[in-house]
Amino acid sequence: MQLDEFNAKISEVSHLFPRHWNVTCGTTVNHFPFVHMVIDNFFTDEEFNEIKKHEHDVSSSEVKIAHSLMRKNGEIKSDIFDKGFLKAIDEAYFPALQSILGVLSAKKTQYYEFSDFHLISTGPNYKHQIHDDIPKKLLSVVVYINPESNNGTFIHDGRYNETPVGEVEWKQNRAFIFSRLDRATWHSYAANEKDKRYCVIYNLNTDKSFKAHWAEGNVLKFLEKRIKNE
Ligand SMILES: [Fe+2]
Repeated sequence: MQLDEFNAKISEVSHLFPRHWNVTCGTTVNHFPFVHMVIDNFFTDEEFNEIKKHEHDVSSSEVKIAHSLMRKNGEIKSDIFDKGFLKAIDEAYFPALQSILGVLSAKKTQYYEFSDFHLISTGPNYKHQIHDDIPKKLLSVVVYINPESNNGTFIHDGRYNETPVGEVEWKQNRAFIFSRLDRATWHSYAANEKDKRYCVIYNLNTDKSFKAHWAEGNVLKFLEKRIKNE
């Protein structure tokens, strides 16, 4: 997708976006092809402060994940957040995120089943391996929460190519959004070896990976996962 076309399609759905969002579309990260969006001021101040209250203490190389889930049938589960808080989050952002998925990967929208809303707390020396995101993640959304400065998300040109080709830089309350593609959307993250790193993962998911492989046109993987009902 060309940047002009991307901007035009996002502008068509932008009436669904919360007014406080500050949206940028990108087709590259540091000249490397990677279709994505960056949304600054993602949460309201009130929401942002509520999220910050639940940060876990973590040791040097530790990661702690507080899980939450919002299903399309209205079911909500959470380790830490109030159901009312998550219901309001879902109402405020789901229509916008679903419309973004419609632009990034239209065929995936019909397979949406639930949203994750995980608070990830990582120690200063934690490193997350290079990965392309599991197929069940239809839309990947990471929102940088705390501290004021840290590393953002590193972009790689292969699973084993440790030196990043670019970075979606850290800024508090910034969301980095993309729709994963098999063996293409390689990324990793690590804290800056000095500070803990807190972010929210707010993904739109399907329940079976074969549906996502079908939407991506990956027929072999679709067949393999369909037989196993995975
Ligand atoms: Fe990821």
